[in-house]
Amino acid sequence: MLRGMDLTSEIETFVADQRLGFLATVCSDGTPNLSPKGLTFVLNEKQIVIGEIRSPNTVSNLLRQPVAELNVVDHFSRKGFRFKGECVVLSEGRAHDKLVKFLRSKGAQSEVNSVIVMDVRSVRPLVSPAYDQGFSEQDLRPQWKKHYVQMDADSLAK
Ligand SMILES: Cc1cc2nc3c(=O)[nH]c(=O)nc-3n(C[C@H](O)[C@H](O)[C@H](O)COP(=O)(O)O)c2cc1C
Repeated sequence: MLRGMDLTSEIETFVADQRLGFLATVCSDGTPNLSPKGLTFVLNEKQIVIGEIRSPNTVSNLLRQPVAELNVVDHFSRKGFRFKGECVVLSEGRAHDKLVKFLRSKGAQSEVNSVIVMDVRSVRPLVSPAYDQGFSEQDLRPQWKKHYVQMDADSLAK
C-alpha cells in the first residue's frame, strides 16, 4: 500500500513532462549515490520504470540493496515529488523486453540495457520555500523561465 499520495495520472504526466529524475541508492560503504535519469516514467498506479543506459553504480547498488529514492522537480514551478520504494533490476527476459518497448514508446533513443522497476511505497510532494513567502506558481513560472532563457542565451554567447 502506498503511503502519502497515489501515483495518479497527474503525477504520471508530471513525471513524463520533466524528462529527468534524480535517483538515490546506497553504496556498499553506506554513502549515498545520486545520479540523473532521463528515462523515468510512471508505469502504473504502483510502479515507476527507469531505463538504465549507463548507470553501473546504481545497478550494482540496487542488486545489493534494492531500495531507492527518486526526486522529480519542475524547474519552472519549483514543485515536484519524491518517491521511495523497492527496486528490481531486469536485464533480460520477456518483462525486460516489454519494458524496453514501453520506454521506446516514450521516446527512448539510446540503447537501454537494464530496466529498473520501483515498487513505490511512498509519494510525497516537494514544494520550494518560495511558496512560504507568498509567491504563487504564476509568479514563479515566468521568473524561472526568464532565468533559463537568459542562461541559455549567455551560454550560446560564450
Ligand atoms: C540529463 C541526464 C540524463 C541521463 N539519463 C540517464 C538515463 O535515463 N539512464 C541512464 O542510465 N543514465 C542516464 N544518464 C547518465 C548517468 O546519470 C551517468 O552515466 C551517471 O554517471 C551514472 O552514475 P551511476 O552509475 O552512479 O548511476 C543521464 C545523465 C544526464 C546528465
